[in-house]
Amino acid sequence: MIAILGAGSMGRLWAAKLPARQVAFVPRPEQSLESLAYQFRPLKGPELSIQIPWLPHTQSPSLLVVTTKAGDTLDALKQVVPRLPETSPIVLFQNGLGSQQRVAETWPNHPVLAATTTEGANRPESALVVHAGQGETWVGALTPAGNTYLTETVAKLAESGLSVNAETDILSRLWQKLIINAGINPFTAILDCPNGKILTHPFYQQWIAPLCHEICELQTASGQSSKSPEALREAIEAVARNTAANTSSMRADRLAGRTTEINFINGYLARLGAEVGIDTPVNQMLTDQVKQLK
Ligand code: PAF
Repeated sequence: MIAILGAGSMGRLWAAKLPARQVAFVPRPEQSLESLAYQFRPLKGPELSIQIPWLPHTQSPSLLVVTTKAGDTLDALKQVVPRLPETSPIVLFQNGLGSQQRVAETWPNHPVLAATTTEGANRPESALVVHAGQGETWVGALTPAGNTYLTETVAKLAESGLSVNAETDILSRLWQKLIINAGINPFTAILDCPNGKILTHPFYQQWIAPLCHEICELQTASGQSSKSPEALREAIEAVARNTAANTSSMRADRLAGRTTEINFINGYLARLGAEVGIDTPVNQMLTDQVKQLK
């Protein structure tokens, strides 16, 4: 049985795509154990009615997929990992950086893996999940035990029919996604606009070059190979153009009154700067501004 912790759009996408009767959601404490029902609109074909059971407390999953928000992950896992066998890998799907390392540090002997995905899923209504864009998922180990389970974990996730690949350097992929998120998400939240609209806004144009400069220095200081600040800007703008009409996850969180993941995106970069002695005024300013949004 594959257990999914976090029943947001990404968790529900995997639950709908993995083989039926082999997947269950991990219940939050004191939750009723009725199954979770929703409509699923696939990329092609008719809408499907999905019904996923909650994992009984007595059952141990063979794989735990974690699709909680970055800020909720450690606390949510503290309720689950103590009863998880050390042979059941944990795969972390969080945005940004920081939360994954905390999980790996908390359970260093457990098989902990991180995933990054470009699959698009959204929830226009609470009981409807839309698979909005076909993407790719990369999975790699964060702890030594995670390496032992990498091939098996990729094979289990690939039973969904989604494209899933093993990655030997998952940190580098997480950094690539972090850079895109750091260059798009706070601007869309602050300016309250779709991704493509930031490109012509004076606020974005004022700060994107110094932001890319900070990120480039941080990347190098943390041992990652980095492109030039100009190349980082090009990569950010290519994604903003390709997803021009989309609402970023941070703008969506803000519009729905949810806590954003800014602490794990620009906030992570600002904390990293403080650790390694690199000034990060632009990352700090973006973090502060997003936190002040009502
Ligand atoms: O976080 C998101 O919403 C997306 O990953 C991004 C980078 C804005 C592209 O749509």
